[in-house]
Amino acid sequence: ADGEKIPALVIGSGYGGSVAALRLAQAGVEVTIVEMGMSWTTPGSDGKIFCPVLKPDGRSYWLRTRTDQPVGYFAGGSYNKDIQKYTGVLDSEQFSGVRVYQGRGVGGGSLVNGGMAVTPKRENFASILPSVNADEMYGTYYPRANSGLGVNHIDQNWFESAECYGFARVGRKHAERSGFGWTFVPNVYDFEYMKKEQAKTVTRSALDGEVIYGNNHGKRSLDKTYLAAATGTGKVRITPMHVVTAVSPTDGGYRVEMNQIDTSGNTVSVKSVVAEKVFFAAGSIGTSKLLVAMKAQGKLPDLPDAVGKNWGNNGNVMVGRANHMWDGTGKLQSSMPCLGIDNWSDTGGPAFAEVAPFPSGLETYVSLYLAITKNPNRAQFTFNSGTGKVDLNWQTSQNQYAIDAAKRIFDKINKKEGTIYRTDLFGVYKTWGDDFTYHPLGGCVLNEATDNYGRVPGYQGLYVIDGSLIPGNTSVNPFVTITALAERNIENIVANDL
Ligand code: FDA
Repeated sequence: ADGEKIPALVIGSGYGGSVAALRLAQAGVEVTIVEMGMSWTTPGSDGKIFCPVLKPDGRSYWLRTRTDQPVGYFAGGSYNKDIQKYTGVLDSEQFSGVRVYQGRGVGGGSLVNGGMAVTPKRENFASILPSVNADEMYGTYYPRANSGLGVNHIDQNWFESAECYGFARVGRKHAERSGFGWTFVPNVYDFEYMKKEQAKTVTRSALDGEVIYGNNHGKRSLDKTYLAAATGTGKVRITPMHVVTAVSPTDGGYRVEMNQIDTSGNTVSVKSVVAEKVFFAAGSIGTSKLLVAMKAQGKLPDLPDAVGKNWGNNGNVMVGRANHMWDGTGKLQSSMPCLGIDNWSDTGGPAFAEVAPFPSGLETYVSLYLAITKNPNRAQFTFNSGTGKVDLNWQTSQNQYAIDAAKRIFDKINKKEGTIYRTDLFGVYKTWGDDFTYHPLGGCVLNEATDNYGRVPGYQGLYVIDGSLIPGNTSVNPFVTITALAERNIENIVANDL
C-alpha cells in the first residue's frame, strides 16, 4: 500500500529476485517482491494460462500490437501476426543495435525460456568472474542452485528413439561426422512428463511447441520452485503489475516509487513505499536502466561510474542449415533443447551451440542452432535526457565475432554434409540471427559496480542480485550461474547485513 514501510523490497521476480526472497524469508525477514508483469495463474477464455504457439494472442507479447518472433520468417515471408496490446509474457525490447528478449511476469525469464540448465566448465567460470572463489561455487552454490531449480537429466536410452528428438539426433550426427564434441544438456522441464507427452497419456506442452509464450505443463518455472518455497514461508508477498520507476535515499532507508498498471499498460495508480533494504533483481536490462537513470537524475548521484558498463549478449547468434531429404528433423519436435555442440576449446573462436528445435508441425529439413560464443565486445547504457529513456550503445556489427565463431562449426558441417545455410529464417536473404539476444548480461558488474557480493557502494542497504552482475558472458546458457551467484551473495548478505 502507498506509504507503507517495508523491511526488504525486491524489484523483479526472476532468478536473482526469487533466490533473494527465499533466503531472506528463511532468515526471518518480511519480503515484498514488486514485479511489473502479471501473475500467470488464471486461465483465459480458452481454459489455458498461456496462449497457443501457432495462434498467438495478447498473452504472447508485452504491450505489442504485432508478434515479433525470434525466428520470424520462413520461405520468403514474415509469419508475424497482429495481436491485441496486452501485458503478455514475452518482451522484445528494441535498442538501436539489438533487440533483447525477456520474460515478464511472476517468475521472470523462467516463464519463457528453454529451460536449459547448464553449469559452465570450471575453468571458464574462473576466467569470467575471477574475484569469486570457484571452489565454493562448484562445491556449494552450483549444487544448491541445481537442486533449488529442480534440474533433471534426460533418459539417454529414451532419447535414442524418442520421435520428438529426431532433430537433436540429426544435429548430433552432423556434429560427430565433422569431428565436433557434443554434450547432453540438463533442463528444468520435467523429462518424465515429456515421456508421457510422447506416449500421449498427458496434455502436450513441450511437444505442442510451447516455450517462448509460456508452458501450460511440464516446466519447473520459478513460480513452482523458488517462489513457491518463498511464499510458503509466510513471509513473502508478491505484488504483480507494479513497475518500479525510482529509488532514492530517505529517512529509514529508500523511497521506492512505482506505477501500478492495467493489462493495457496504462498507469492506474502511483505509489511509494519506504524500504530498509532494496534488492535490484530486474534483470540485466531492467536493473541497469533503473540505476543509470537514478544516477543521471540525481536520485542516487554517488553510484560508481562502473554502473551501466560492461554489458554483453553472451555472444548469442542463431543460424539454420538446410538438410538433405534423408536428414529430416521431424514433424514432432520437443521445444526443450537437450544437447549442444561443444567447440569451446577452439581458441580461434570458442562456441557452445545448442541444437535448437524448430517446431512448426511440418517437416522443414531445418537444423537450427543457437550459438553462445566468446564475443569480447561490450556496450554501455546511458541516460538520454532528450527522451528520458536509457539507451544501450550496442551495434549489430559488434556481433560479427559471434558469426565468425559459429562459422567455424557450421561451415565445416556444411562442407562435410554438402549442405547450405538457410537464408529465409531471420529476414529475407538473411543467414544470421545476429541482431537479437536471449541472454542479456552485465551492466552492474560484480566487484566493479558493486562489491564482491552485490552491495552497492556508498548506499548501505542497496544490492544488485541478478544477471547484471555477470560481465557479458557465461560461456553457456546463463540462468544456473545467475542463480548460483545469487545463492552465494545472499548467504553473505544474510550473515553480515541483517
Ligand atoms: P529476469 O529477466 O529473469 O527477471 C527480471 C524480472 O524483473 C522480470 O520478471 C521483469 O518483468 C521484472 N522487472 C524488470 N524491470 C522491472 C521494474 N522496473 N519494476 C518491476 N519489475 C521489473 N537461459 C538459460 O540458462 N537457459 C535457457 O534455455 C534459456 N532460454 C531462454 C529463452 C528465451 C526466449 C529467453 C527470453 C531467455 C532465455 N534464457 C535462457 C535466459 C534466462 O531466462 C535469463 O538469463 C534469466 O531469466 C535472467 O535472470 P534475471 O534474474 O537476471 O532476470
